[in-house]
Amino acid sequence: DCLELLLEVNSTNTYLFERASDHMGKRYAVLAEKQSNGRGRRGRQWISPFGRNIYLSLLVSFSGGMSALEGLSLTVGVAVEKALSRLGIDGVGLKWPNDVYADGRKLAGILLEVTGEYNSHCQVVIGIGLNLSMSEAEARDIDQPWVDLKSLKPDLSRNQVAGVLLDELLSSIDTFQREGFAPLQEYWSQKDIYHDKDVVISSPTQQISGTVKGVNRKGELMLRTERGMEIISAGELSVRP
Ligand code: BTN
Repeated sequence: DCLELLLEVNSTNTYLFERASDHMGKRYAVLAEKQSNGRGRRGRQWISPFGRNIYLSLLVSFSGGMSALEGLSLTVGVAVEKALSRLGIDGVGLKWPNDVYADGRKLAGILLEVTGEYNSHCQVVIGIGLNLSMSEAEARDIDQPWVDLKSLKPDLSRNQVAGVLLDELLSSIDTFQREGFAPLQEYWSQKDIYHDKDVVISSPTQQISGTVKGVNRKGELMLRTERGMEIISAGELSVRP
């Protein structure tokens, strides 16, 4: 396995994406002190000041094509929650598909990027941004309510957080590669901050209102709507106004 620690990089996800083809079949982790172009989902930026938070990406290869990835992003959310729980931080919740919340505010974000499929193998870059000790000045640019670990539990060692996070991530992926997402389906729903809540799911083409009723074994959201149960595979979840 490769492990690389960088002082500054545009984005740890981009960095691994560019190197992926030379590391087929291997795992490759990168941590950076700062990202000059940290990226979030849906083209948003991820505020990534120097020396404060955790910016981690892991390159993983999968056999069996794209369908082997169903539920992977939710698995990564569970790995982050389990790592935090091991560090003594309770009350961490998940928001479909893969946001990590505490105290009603966003604590960590996950960005999965698939490089492509060759001979029914594909590679995925799994990026995790975890707020540890965000600076107020930099945080002014964050466009949603956020929280950092320091305000939940002071005196956490950043090295320890990074170590536990990587350890949980690797073992969750091992389990996922053997058994898929199904064993985590129940656990995920227990941690879902929107379970049984009324929400709106927005995609570029439509908006669907309904009540969250858990996830299926592919990690898709089960939404009870006026038309019955609908299965949602992608979109942005917000609370119904
Ligand atoms: C989101 O919630 O929008 C996802 C945020 C993901 C941020 C992490 S930080 C490490 C990795 N490198 C990036 O550029 N993004 C991810």
